[in-house]
Amino acid sequence: MKIAIGNDHSAVDLKQVITEYLNSLGHEVINFGPDTSESCHYPEYGKIVGQAVAAGKADCGILICGTGVGISIAANKVKGVRAAVCSDTATARLVKEHNNANIIAFGARIVGEELAKDIVKSYLDAEFMGGRHQVRIDMIHAIEEEQ
Ligand code: RB5
Repeated sequence: MKIAIGNDHSAVDLKQVITEYLNSLGHEVINFGPDTSESCHYPEYGKIVGQAVAAGKADCGILICGTGVGISIAANKVKGVRAAVCSDTATARLVKEHNNANIIAFGARIVGEELAKDIVKSYLDAEFMGGRHQVRIDMIHAIEEEQ
């Protein structure tokens, strides 16, 4: 898969760990940065990764900030993005199965490296279940259209 990744200054090291892990699984990673720990603004990276995923330039995205929250809120402002914060593997599986999340986010200050890798694997291995879940996703899209 082609996977877009972005972060903020709090998550440069974890981004590198996840990138190497994704490469080891055979995935192509598109890095939207940043790659230094100089203070930056997470909405920029949530936006650019969200836009890449929404435009089909990547199959899905991974966003990492301190908590995963701010950067996912930013990404969710991009039409077509369904970004979900995951701090455990069950949530990571369910956000694909039920919500067809096209981006997962987590916090470098919340999850350790091994859990982060397991979260990514749980998400990538899961499949969207469709059916009643698609109905609900269509309702979410309808909210976007109303704005
Ligand atoms: C940056 O200090 C921090 O606010 C950010 O990484 C993130 O946790 C925001 O949601």
